[in-house]
Amino acid sequence: MNIVILAAGKGSRMKSSLTKVLHQIGGKPMITHVVETAASLRPKKILVVVSENRKEIENELKNLNINFQIKFVDQKPTLGTGHAVMMASPLLDETCNTLILFGDVPLISPGSLKKLCKESNQPFLRVLTAIVENPSGYGRIIRDGNEKLIKRCIEEKDANKTERNTKEINTGIMYVSTKNLIDWVDKIDNKNEQHEYYLPQIISHANNENISVFPVLTIDVNEILGVNSPLQKSNVERIFQKKYAKEFCEKGLEISDINRFDVRGNLSFGKGVKIDIGCLFIGEVSIGNEVIIEPYCVIKNTSIGNHTIVKAFTHIENSVVGSNSIIGPYARLRANTEIENNCKIGNFVETKNIELGANSKANHLSYLGDAQIGKNVNIGAGTITCNYDGNKKHKTTIEDDSFIGSNSELIAPVTIKKGATVGAGTTLCEDVPEKSLSTSRAKQVNIIGWKKSNKS
Ligand code: UD1
Ligand code: MG
Repeated sequence: MNIVILAAGKGSRMKSSLTKVLHQIGGKPMITHVVETAASLRPKKILVVVSENRKEIENELKNLNINFQIKFVDQKPTLGTGHAVMMASPLLDETCNTLILFGDVPLISPGSLKKLCKESNQPFLRVLTAIVENPSGYGRIIRDGNEKLIKRCIEEKDANKTERNTKEINTGIMYVSTKNLIDWVDKIDNKNEQHEYYLPQIISHANNENISVFPVLTIDVNEILGVNSPLQKSNVERIFQKKYAKEFCEKGLEISDINRFDVRGNLSFGKGVKIDIGCLFIGEVSIGNEVIIEPYCVIKNTSIGNHTIVKAFTHIENSVVGSNSIIGPYARLRANTEIENNCKIGNFVETKNIELGANSKANHLSYLGDAQIGKNVNIGAGTITCNYDGNKKHKTTIEDDSFIGSNSELIAPVTIKKGATVGAGTTLCEDVPEKSLSTSRAKQVNIIGWKKSNKS
């Protein structure tokens, strides 16, 4: 079949400078959802109708991992959904049927489309419809006398009161014999409230030729929701997230509240994993067995080993965390942080580009950047690796079994050899030999009987 995806509309109801179909659901642009679903049906052709937004959409879709060439069709100016299909008509392969999808209906599933795309005797028109509680904004389906077939579709702005009360709506998705489609879109006029060329008018043209228009009712109405406004986007986002949360729960993930759980990418997890409220997983995240993620953590492109606890309000990005470790609360692990097993990273510790060996700890208030830290190392509160000289980044090496006293500044490049101790409050500029103590504290002076100056 041919698949035509309409994506040229201005999306003015979104009140956004970003073209509507590039708005994301589950961290992925709506158009990408639709193109991936389309590709899964293995059509002959995918045509995407675009307008001034062509470059942005092309850019977005060029890296898609689908084995499929997409053709872009320009629609300028954008005069309505019927006009959009008119622009695509010359590129349609008339030897097969055509499926029309909307770029702003992102959750439609391959299963529902397969149900719609059943071969019918030529010529034919099959329309995916749905019965919804609140039909406002959608085109209403008007059935014929015996209620089996569709007579016409009326847009909300053109509908009278009775028509508006109809709860069966047009999802916009249709499957049609191509020759007829080309014929019918040619006949569409713009005599309506919005002076647009409406695609659903082809339903009337089919009826005029005594060709039956079959409704195919959607079973899961959540799939066919269109996104035209920020509120609709928010609703669709939650539906998307809840669907995945439910599937994860079925696979054994313990999610405290599926209404407060978000994935924007791919999440994999082992057995006995618990995720508390408000957590967000971005990109590729893999979690081992028996891991606990406390509330309000953001975890991106990261893997976490077995039995690790990520405490509340922790951010982890592009990192690897080993097993049996405790991270947070309020920790920030930035890119290229590698934490081995049995480690602790406590509150207000920021890391970037470091390796922390097994059994090592940085429990409070530290910045550790560009550092190679060995095993059994204790990093005291307030320790800072001074890795940046204003021009270049430099490396700090802390070998196994070392102890860094609180409030130390380690001015890189610098190496602290195995088993060394750095006294609290040290500003370290030179390497520390093995098993030695290094301290750079100024000598303490006590002035006995010191008189405070009187406030005037
Ligand atoms: C459309 C349908 C309505 C249906 C609803 C389902 C029409 C006239 N109305 O209304 O019956 O209930 O979808 O979600 O078809 N587009 C173009 N070129 C244009 C105009 C739109 O490519 O000139 C694209 C848009 O980018 C969008 C899709 O077509 O992806 C639908 O357009 P939109 O303006 O959102 O139509 P609705 O008002 O939602
Ligand atoms: Mg729409």
